[in-house]
Amino acid sequence: MGGYVLGAATAALGYQAAMACTAAVEEVIDAHYQEQLAQLPEGALATTIEQFRQEELEHKETAEQQGAADAPFAGLLQMVVKTISRTAIIAAKRF
Ligand SMILES: [Fe+2]
Repeated sequence: MGGYVLGAATAALGYQAAMACTAAVEEVIDAHYQEQLAQLPEGALATTIEQFRQEELEHKETAEQQGAADAPFAGLLQMVVKTISRTAIIAAKRF
């Protein structure tokens, strides 16, 4: 639900805001995957998570190439998006 709200709200702010949102979310997801990988032994699951991580990094790179930094109030917007994303991860771990 948070993801939907973030996507809809930033899209309403404009294309670059949506790209700023995407880059911020992917940065948080990258950190989350790295945290998981640090706790996992080598194996099929770790390999799959690393593949997912690489895909998310590609999305982040695309968003940056598409003008994420040029969004209005990009720094503030990304700080808000990262906070919401981290909160969603914490919630997902608990429920
Ligand atoms: Fe992604």
